[in-house]
Amino acid sequence: MCGIVGYVGEKAALPALIEGLKRLEYRGYDSCGVALSGQGGIDVRKSQGRISVLEAQLDFEADRSTSGIAHTRWATHGAPNDVNAHPHCDASRRIALVHNGIVENYQPLRIYLEQQGVTFRSETDSEVLAQLIGWFYDGDLEKAVREALCKVQGTYGIAVISNDEPGVIVAARRGSPLIIGVGRGEYVVASDASAIIEHTTQVIYLCDNEIVRLTVEGFHTTTLDAEPVTKEVQEVEWTLEQIELAGYEHYMLKEIFEQPASLSTGMRGRVDLREGTIRLGGLADCTRELTHCRRIIMTACGTAWHAALVGEYLFEDLARVPTEVDYASEFRYRNPIVGEGTVVIAVSQSGETADTLAALREAKQRGALTLGVVNTVGSTIAREADAGVYLHVGPEIGVASTKAFTGQLTVLTLMAASLGRRRHLSQPAAREILEALAAIPDQVKTVLARAAEAEAVAEAYQHRDNWLYLGRGYNFPVAMEGALKLKEISYIHAEGLPAAEMKHGPIALINEGMPVVVIATRGAQYEKIISNIEEVRTRGGHIIAVATEGDRQVAKLAEHVLYVPHTMEPLQPLLTVVPLQLIAYYTAVLRGCNVDKPRNLAKSVTVE
Ligand code: G6P
Repeated sequence: MCGIVGYVGEKAALPALIEGLKRLEYRGYDSCGVALSGQGGIDVRKSQGRISVLEAQLDFEADRSTSGIAHTRWATHGAPNDVNAHPHCDASRRIALVHNGIVENYQPLRIYLEQQGVTFRSETDSEVLAQLIGWFYDGDLEKAVREALCKVQGTYGIAVISNDEPGVIVAARRGSPLIIGVGRGEYVVASDASAIIEHTTQVIYLCDNEIVRLTVEGFHTTTLDAEPVTKEVQEVEWTLEQIELAGYEHYMLKEIFEQPASLSTGMRGRVDLREGTIRLGGLADCTRELTHCRRIIMTACGTAWHAALVGEYLFEDLARVPTEVDYASEFRYRNPIVGEGTVVIAVSQSGETADTLAALREAKQRGALTLGVVNTVGSTIAREADAGVYLHVGPEIGVASTKAFTGQLTVLTLMAASLGRRRHLSQPAAREILEALAAIPDQVKTVLARAAEAEAVAEAYQHRDNWLYLGRGYNFPVAMEGALKLKEISYIHAEGLPAAEMKHGPIALINEGMPVVVIATRGAQYEKIISNIEEVRTRGGHIIAVATEGDRQVAKLAEHVLYVPHTMEPLQPLLTVVPLQLIAYYTAVLRGCNVDKPRNLAKSVTVE
């Protein structure tokens, strides 16, 4: 949520900053801005809207500054307009700051500063921080930042420059990610690695309550209390190719089509089919504790929460461990019971979601063994969890999560089967699951080869403003995920439900021609879902069924059938979600929506 980039080096900063902003645009995109420190003072340019609007106002030839900061915003305090866009300056315009996070005590701080005669320009909490730093500034930027941050409650990732110290960037974090790219003769500070890897793959991850001072000569890291900190330089796995469109029209489509490959990568080196064994290196140190756990709580937000719901079925089914799933935002505040033998698993693509991180910390505080199921290597949740498993699906740029969801399902299946093996699951049973899992990437290819059928559904129902999604068992969370995808990117109202719940209210919504997507694959509850289909049809609803290849019965009842290959029930979500991703994608395109940057959303929600 909000993207920060800062550059200090031997080259011109402006092109690097704008390029970095474009890479970060998926984090927030309602306004943006840049501040450069040069001979004539700080030059700030801001603009409402997309980065291309800002870019059109800049003179790349004229500006030779070699350091600066930039920001792409997702508004929290104050409307998205030029004034509220970052960077923000102090009253004397000596200081410019970009901020990600929320200054919770901004109102008393603002009142205090106003009483001292400071005039504010914007409605933002971030300007308070810029003004406060300016208030403390006496020629030493790092010291002023430290003093200001000691007064601040809330979360921040910041990068700050000063008129009087050209070539210096001071950055700090608490609760919002910041990474420093360590290049040759240049440093880049950014809220995620995608803005850095064009320059270097060598990075340091700033921790909470740390401050870094960057110049072209090097960096110096300290705590908020001015204690020096030695940071380890690490290698980022992501490549430039992975974060480019590679000929696809949208990242979301690219990421949907990447799934056969990303699923294979997620399993690589982890499964021994012959032995029926699973190796999850990240859990090696807690094998004993995990094997004897009494209860699992999974916590997550959004799509990751849907994956966790499937995980609940997997852990209970395959490992026979009582499991529950909680929204991270609820878990963190509701005085949860975390008894002896409780394992808390935080599921998160970004590894930075504020609520999920806070839930993980709460669980840790209460003595749980905490595990992370995370995609972004080196992210805060990955670093703070006691142990964990990475998804390894590569960077996900499209705001609507797709390949991360199937990656989460894969990892949760491996975790559940591995735990099951150590408790009661027989070797043949484990082998059967692993063999079925190994076949999934090719089966997803088969589903993708039929994308045109999902497109036909989108064409038929693109103008309908209410959709229902129904599923049972393992496919109930998939119904919710399908509905979420449609909502997120095409702004259509959609509800996902366990099919049986339809009768307890939502059935009242069904009218003539209403699209009702039903996941009706072969399985234990097949007959029940056929009854639900009949109930919808009787009321005039149109059935869009996701069915098992060769199922003629469903074909007779549905307006559209999207076939998926046969697999065992616990693995069906890996296949059944794919046509739903495609329906959402094509519907959004047909409705002229910005698929990768849907309104009001952000990829990584780093504020609560
Ligand atoms: C945001 C994104 C969703 C994502 C959710 C959780 O709302 O738009 O796509 O599922 O955050 O994100 P996480 O990174 O924790 O999986």
